[in-house]
Amino acid sequence: MHSMKNKAFTILLVEDNGGDVEMFLRTVEDELPRADDEQVELVIAARAEGALKLLEERQIDLVLTDVRLPGMSGIELLQHIQARDRRIPVIMISWVDMVDTAVEAMRCGAFDYVTKPFEKLDLAARIHRAMRISEIMFRYEPPQEGEERPFKDLIGTSPAIHNVMALIEAAARVQSTTLIIGETGTGKELIARAIHERSAERDGPFQVVDCTSFSEGTVDSELFGHVRGAFTGAIADKLGLIERGIGGTIFLDEIGDLPLPLQTKLLRVLEMGEVRAVGSVHQKKVSARFIAATNQELTEKVKRNEFRKDLFFRLNVMAIKVPPLRERTQDIPLIARHFMARFSREFDKFVTDLHPSAVTELVAYSWPGNVRELRNVIERAVMLAKGDRISHDDVVSLLQFTDQSRRIHTDDYLSLPYAKAKEKVLEDFSRRYIKSKLDHHQGNVTHAAQEAGLPRPYFHEIMRRYLKDEK
Ligand SMILES: Nc1ncnc2c1ncn2[C@@H]1O[C@H](COP(=O)(O)OP(=O)(O)OP(=O)(O)O)[C@@H](O)[C@H]1O
Ligand SMILES: [Mg+2]
Repeated sequence: MHSMKNKAFTILLVEDNGGDVEMFLRTVEDELPRADDEQVELVIAARAEGALKLLEERQIDLVLTDVRLPGMSGIELLQHIQARDRRIPVIMISWVDMVDTAVEAMRCGAFDYVTKPFEKLDLAARIHRAMRISEIMFRYEPPQEGEERPFKDLIGTSPAIHNVMALIEAAARVQSTTLIIGETGTGKELIARAIHERSAERDGPFQVVDCTSFSEGTVDSELFGHVRGAFTGAIADKLGLIERGIGGTIFLDEIGDLPLPLQTKLLRVLEMGEVRAVGSVHQKKVSARFIAATNQELTEKVKRNEFRKDLFFRLNVMAIKVPPLRERTQDIPLIARHFMARFSREFDKFVTDLHPSAVTELVAYSWPGNVRELRNVIERAVMLAKGDRISHDDVVSLLQFTDQSRRIHTDDYLSLPYAKAKEKVLEDFSRRYIKSKLDHHQGNVTHAAQEAGLPRPYFHEIMRRYLKDEK
């Protein structure tokens, strides 16, 4: 695996205007957020031809190129780079009046573009983002068949997902109920199975009990079973779902939807470790691990008396909160590549390449359906892909098809001049991003900055700039 440790990150700047080069150098020097031990090396070429030579000679991790250059143009350079190594993100530099060229560059696979005159902070933020993505592109190799990894299916390197992994290990070690809380598609069932596989019950069954699926009247018998003759139609003994999980794990999915009377009965099961089938006079011992999942605010339901408080406390002994995908954007490229490899195998296609500009779109999207939605998008993208790559356009068409309402409303800005419009969109994004990080950490700036991968002063500066009108 390609290691980034103890190695300078090399940025190639292709720019023929001395003033702009100087401005760029100062931006990197003064504004670029970086880890303490991270070195950033700059190499500069005044022409595309010289840049190509440098790309031959050494490893370049990121390229910034002016669109307009003497000789070969920036777009042509981009195409050359794309042909050589598509993992290198390329940021295009253009003048505000050259939007068409910038858009064309994005089509060709540019990672991003900045416009002159530069806004230092904006430029630094964009370079920083490209650096992080470049690292992932170079670092990530899809797991080999049969490769041993601590978490086979749970993909991610974000602090948030590492936290979840640690909680999985902890939950598996103790014999207590676990409550998994997260939006739809965040991987709650995957996490429940991961706990089961690491637990003492791993050789027993993993029994899913879907609490939304019960129809009034038959629930008791479905959950707890019944004995022959318990009611009309009960022609034989029937094993309940809970009994089927004995010796293993019982996964109570969407526990928030369990009707109140059943909550009472479930609480008995948890507390006494016994079930009684409908029509039976005998209690049966149930020893199993219980994991419950919900996408609802159970505490709110408790307040409204729709969920039993004592059951909530009983389940909540160990809680795992799974953050939505939009709060761990760092994992998006990894998960996307994981599914790209998987569906490529499944469909017998040879799609190996995800364009940096497609990654940009994936990272910017809000993913209301979380990882499941990302999986579906990649599945369709692989299906649609012509040749060996998923392009920017493939992804964009799928995202718009999937969900338009929650994207940034670009239409609102279409009436503005380009530079203003772009500024607004960026502002919107920054505000939403910073807010979500702060919300997630109850306003703790240090933790929020850590999760964002930004130095605290830099995070604070963005906060000052973008959250100043809000309280
Ligand atoms: N971190 C991850 N890495 C790889 N795949 C993931 C990850 N998280 C979730 N998935 C995949 O996303 C899909 C949805 O996950 P899962 O069914 O566990 O979500 P869920 O939280 O139970 O959703 P719901 O609330 O809708 O039931 C599955 O295909 C799962 O394998
Ligand atoms: Mg689920």
